[in-house]
Amino acid sequence: MHQSLGNCQSFEQLDQALHIQADNAKVWVQVWSPTLLQIQICIHDAKEDFSYALDSSPEKTPITITDSADRITLQTASFKLEINKAPLRFAFYTIDGQLINQDDPAFGTCWLGHQITTYKSLQADETFIGLGEKGGNVQRRGSSWTNWNTDAFAYGVDTDPLYTTFPFYIGLHSGLTYGIYFDNSAKSHFNFGASNHRFSSFSAQDGDMNYFFFAGPTVKDIVLEYAKLTGTMPLPPKWSLGYQQCRYSYYPDKEIKEIAQTFRDKNIPCDVMYFDIHYMQDYKLFTWDEARFPDPKKLLQELRAQGFRSVPIIDPGVKIEPGYDAFESGLEQDIFAKYPDGEPFSADVWPGTCYFPDFTKPEGRTWWKQQMHKVTSVGFAGFWNDMNEPASWGQDMPDLIGFDYENHPTTHIKARNVYGMQMARATYEASKDDFAGKRPFVLTRAGFSGVQRYAAVWTGDNTSSDESMLLGARMVTNLGLAGVPFAGYDAGGFIGDASPNLYKRWISLGAFSPFFRGHSQINTKRSEPWSYGEEAEEVARNYISLRYRLMPYIYAAFAQASETGMPVARSLLLDYQDDPQVLAPKFQNQYQFGPSFLVCPIESEKQLEEIYLPEGQWYDLHNDTALAGSQTHIVKCPTYRLPVFVKASSIVPMQSVTQHMDEKPSDVLTLHIYNGTQENDFVYYEDDGESFDYQNQMYYRQHIRFDPKTKTLAWSKAQGKYISQCTSLRIYWHGFDSLHTCTIEGRSVPLQKQDYVFIPPVSNFDPFYTEQDQTLCIKNLPYIEVPLRASAFEVSYI
Ligand code: NOJ
Repeated sequence: MHQSLGNCQSFEQLDQALHIQADNAKVWVQVWSPTLLQIQICIHDAKEDFSYALDSSPEKTPITITDSADRITLQTASFKLEINKAPLRFAFYTIDGQLINQDDPAFGTCWLGHQITTYKSLQADETFIGLGEKGGNVQRRGSSWTNWNTDAFAYGVDTDPLYTTFPFYIGLHSGLTYGIYFDNSAKSHFNFGASNHRFSSFSAQDGDMNYFFFAGPTVKDIVLEYAKLTGTMPLPPKWSLGYQQCRYSYYPDKEIKEIAQTFRDKNIPCDVMYFDIHYMQDYKLFTWDEARFPDPKKLLQELRAQGFRSVPIIDPGVKIEPGYDAFESGLEQDIFAKYPDGEPFSADVWPGTCYFPDFTKPEGRTWWKQQMHKVTSVGFAGFWNDMNEPASWGQDMPDLIGFDYENHPTTHIKARNVYGMQMARATYEASKDDFAGKRPFVLTRAGFSGVQRYAAVWTGDNTSSDESMLLGARMVTNLGLAGVPFAGYDAGGFIGDASPNLYKRWISLGAFSPFFRGHSQINTKRSEPWSYGEEAEEVARNYISLRYRLMPYIYAAFAQASETGMPVARSLLLDYQDDPQVLAPKFQNQYQFGPSFLVCPIESEKQLEEIYLPEGQWYDLHNDTALAGSQTHIVKCPTYRLPVFVKASSIVPMQSVTQHMDEKPSDVLTLHIYNGTQENDFVYYEDDGESFDYQNQMYYRQHIRFDPKTKTLAWSKAQGKYISQCTSLRIYWHGFDSLHTCTIEGRSVPLQKQDYVFIPPVSNFDPFYTEQDQTLCIKNLPYIEVPLRASAFEVSYI
């Protein structure tokens, strides 16, 4: 039998909060901002006040409260909460009285044993999106999902649960939008009208009902407010935005050197070489296999001299082996997770039988930092936390294992989903302590809401298949909606052998992914850019090089993500939430990369595809063909040419290609302006790319405004103390067919013309086929060159 809340017996108002005594529970309602409110429902006397996810506190918000015989009404400037007294139920309305979201009238919030659930009435046209890294369709109505961080080897499109937990979703109906973040780390379940026509619901196996309601009013508002609530990503080191090469595993040292050298010989840009588990002695954490890697320090120095950063895998399991320092010191400092009778929990993973550090225990993280010195001191620039769901053979960790949970002792049920995030946190903090002012880079497989404060997330063990590639694009876009802008997948696929066509498609798509890494499993085909034949190698070089040329654009998107939480890979709902086509299964893989590019992931064997362009005017990136929005188009998509479109009025800064981030590009900043009827802004951003000095104004930030009405491009005075590394600007004018004069301060600037190529055609490998693709070039593109100034200036055009 379910146990309900009962009726409201009494309530008191405390500042911008309400405390309600119900027959069977206590309820706290706390206003966080005019558009954010928290509801906590607790069967015990005291509510749970600790959360790993939250990174902000309520802001002073005026509210009004009115009380009548049957209801309490709480109103902010943006919405109304109607609290029905008997039975106690909650309903959210717009100020003008439209229903946004309401409890199921009969069930509201109730318990079944320890499991607590909130049931919300399903609205007729309601659609749902969210939950971060999940499979399936982007639109989630009719489906249900479980949050229980899992080592989901070779997951398929509908596999659930996966590696991470983001109990946050957005509902849309009747032109209204709201968000719900369920702040409970226990195993949880979300139902969006699966096997029922009555409600959506969210429940947890343990703990309080504790959710935040976001009143929007748009998807973008909700995503940004959620990011603020759970903390935005610190600006990553610029090198981590470059291409990264991984394999399970490269060894010995000679092989890593060869791969690194091949990148340089073949002029394929790359910034990072990974060390997967074979670098360790018998997979033991913080050790080296000395036969394979006799001099790690020297190796890392040599790689560094070639412009590579090195990143090793670090798993949580500590091998049980008397005399092994990590094991002995972990036991001595009592940091391993234990059964209730005090025996450390052991299970098997790569090194054999292991104990698992309790990363939810402050002392556990301190111990981890001490251990991490062993690797931070070798010269690694970042760390890769894997198997941190945590994974172990058998994959069924007992629920009664105890965890400290920041001195709120609990069990595996509540600690599992935050375990990986706390491991990433300890790794991030260790790097920060040891790297003397350099920005850490941590990559994690498991995570929970807020993980973006410590790590980038990759989508784990995908397969070399078209479905997995397309799913990866959706997962990364969904992670962006869930506060994690720095996310990516194993390009080429981890499990199985990619065909050359699949590899080509995936590596070109990866160039438009926030995190960009190639990786493949042991005993599969090699997966470096040159492993799939000459044509694939050219495609990889072209797209990886384009990624480096786009670095000023990408870095600005990361700076914005770090400041505001705006995703880098952006769901089309952020700009076009009223357009039903953007959720249509046929077009759901499309996303925006930064503010300007619309990227269309497409299966590897397709030569033609129907794509959808939302409202407005668009340009084919490759040849400037203008395409109308609000309609579909059939586009050519041979595997050397990923369909990417640029929004009219866009401002896209670029640089010359470099082979890695230490290599300086030329001092010419290239700006591509795409003609359009809308005004548009771009915030150009530069800093040293690796220190925290930007937090002390050591940045260069300049607003660039395109105004088609006054026919001007205007630069604000640069902010910050950093001096731009660029001295001149080359401005390319796309779609300005009748352009004949540009002036700067009344003086005209010579207009020049050039054939411009974003992606060069691949070489002609077929002696019987001589036709070159003519659609990869913008003929006679006009451009001007002017000095870049830190003072405000303006370019006019006619
Ligand atoms: C599982 C990870 O997901 C994969 O990327 C890695 O290569 C293997 N573990 C081996 O460490």
